[in-house]
Amino acid sequence: MGELKWWQKVVFYQIYPRSFADGDGDGIGDFKGITEKLDYLKDLGVEGLWLSPHFPSPNWDCGYDISDYEDVAPEYGRLVDFKTFLSGAHTLGMHVILDLVLNHTSDRHSWFLESKSSRDNPKADWYVWVDTPPNNWQSCFDGPAWTFAPERRQYFYHYFMKQQPDLNWHNPQVRQAMWNAARFWLDMGVDGFRLDAIGTLFEDPALTPHSVPLDLAGLRFLSDIARTAEDRDQVEMYWREMFKYQLGQPGIHEVLKELRAVLDEYDGDRLLVGEDEDVTYHGNGRDELNMVFNFPLMRTDLITPEWVLKNQKERLAALAAVSPDAWACNTLGNHDNSRLFTRYSLARLGGDGTHDGERVRLALAVILTLRGTPFLYNGEEIGMTDYLVPNRSSLRDSMATWYFDHLMEKLKMDPIEAARRAAAMSRDKNRTPMQWRNAPNAGFCPEDVTPWLPVNPNYTSGINVQEQEKDPASLLTFYRRLLRLRNANPALVDGDYQPIQTPNPECLAFRRSTPEQSVLVVLNFSERSSSLDLGGLNPHTIRVLFSSTGSTKAGLLHLVVAPFEVCLLEMN
Ligand code: GLC
Ligand code: MG
Repeated sequence: MGELKWWQKVVFYQIYPRSFADGDGDGIGDFKGITEKLDYLKDLGVEGLWLSPHFPSPNWDCGYDISDYEDVAPEYGRLVDFKTFLSGAHTLGMHVILDLVLNHTSDRHSWFLESKSSRDNPKADWYVWVDTPPNNWQSCFDGPAWTFAPERRQYFYHYFMKQQPDLNWHNPQVRQAMWNAARFWLDMGVDGFRLDAIGTLFEDPALTPHSVPLDLAGLRFLSDIARTAEDRDQVEMYWREMFKYQLGQPGIHEVLKELRAVLDEYDGDRLLVGEDEDVTYHGNGRDELNMVFNFPLMRTDLITPEWVLKNQKERLAALAAVSPDAWACNTLGNHDNSRLFTRYSLARLGGDGTHDGERVRLALAVILTLRGTPFLYNGEEIGMTDYLVPNRSSLRDSMATWYFDHLMEKLKMDPIEAARRAAAMSRDKNRTPMQWRNAPNAGFCPEDVTPWLPVNPNYTSGINVQEQEKDPASLLTFYRRLLRLRNANPALVDGDYQPIQTPNPECLAFRRSTPEQSVLVVLNFSERSSSLDLGGLNPHTIRVLFSSTGSTKAGLLHLVVAPFEVCLLEMN
């Protein structure tokens, strides 16, 4: 394992600062809170932390609309609080990466205020300006992509909300300004960045209109009511068509190369991981990004052996074709997606939810045993579920309030129905405060304070850290054990991946091997026990490293795993 970089060895944990831990008792998470939880994180076994944006922001998009790249949002603390957190994390051997939003700033950023003030100011060309909307492009959050600025009597372009104007990445001054912001944090010692929405940096120079016979509101509603597989395929095709001239356009590779060069000015293997699934952003393996996310893995209704095998076959081949240095990066959840427990529940698909707890453990085991760096999202370790905020006034995701208003105004929908639909499509449902204890507000903030998003009341039924810490059968204990196991077994980090045929298609098996160690991973997704013939693998010795039921015994020739068992064997 000696040759691997730190970011190939660690497991990352995404902290959503607003919801993680409230240290100063105002109902909003902050650096004081995060710093107090560093021991918890260390104990969990994660050694990489990714922070969603912590910069000053008017919060139209919960911090992804940044009004100053070189400071800390006052509700999260001051710069000194950030530094305390960073040095605390480093002292515990953890690495910290920040969220760098390149595509757009807040409309309150001084760059934009200057740019929109006239057509001939020094930053006039820092954003994307036109005299009249040249096409039917949509923003993916709030309707038309072109918004009028009375000051200039021109329109600016925004892929996201109109409070998030797109920067003009053709302008070298924009690049320099952004690289300086990156240096500000690199100088302080941060270990790298997760790059937000890199696919959106450039637009089709020919400004080709999209061909979908709908606007954003229409497409949102269609997505909302699509139920059959055919309907959903159609809707997905529409999404791709609607935005294809605004995504993945030429120019991105050059920008990534410049940023890579900035990071390479620093020591210590600073990391760039891109919010994209396109493996070509690895460049030659060294001159662009270190990792992009394996998003295709999570794009399913249910994690099954067949799905994982297919994904790995395609993904590992695609990475290898790009460069031997292209490193896999697996995730199942983040702040933009429904919680694992909700998303991959059979109950949601109309089935029997009795084994959803086991399925979540299997899904986690997949992420922690496949080849590649895993990214976990805060709260998944205790099995937090989606919580639909009860009314319009508690929604904080502007994409959802926009949708609510549309349903009310244009479709004249009943307000209760509109609120339910908006809550279900919102990202608030998976961003509710972390559930620390079985105490008012789940111990996230003081009892007499209203948290920024409502707390999911299911903290009273065991979905909280404190109770699970004490329970050997809890999901949290399972997470800890498996994380420890991964960290202690080099084959699980560095080993290659070989799928193994099993007689039961609902039982997933693969082998991870380095020259020193070989680990057999067996994940039984079925309700019946499954047997596996080990003879063909020619083991000389076998040792059970992990058995989720505690019951698995392995002989040299034959292995029987219990229903829903997670089993790891060391074979020599
Ligand atoms: C990314 C973020 C998302 C945000 C968007 C715009 O997709 O993950 O939360 O809304 O970019 O910045
Ligand atoms: Mg606070």
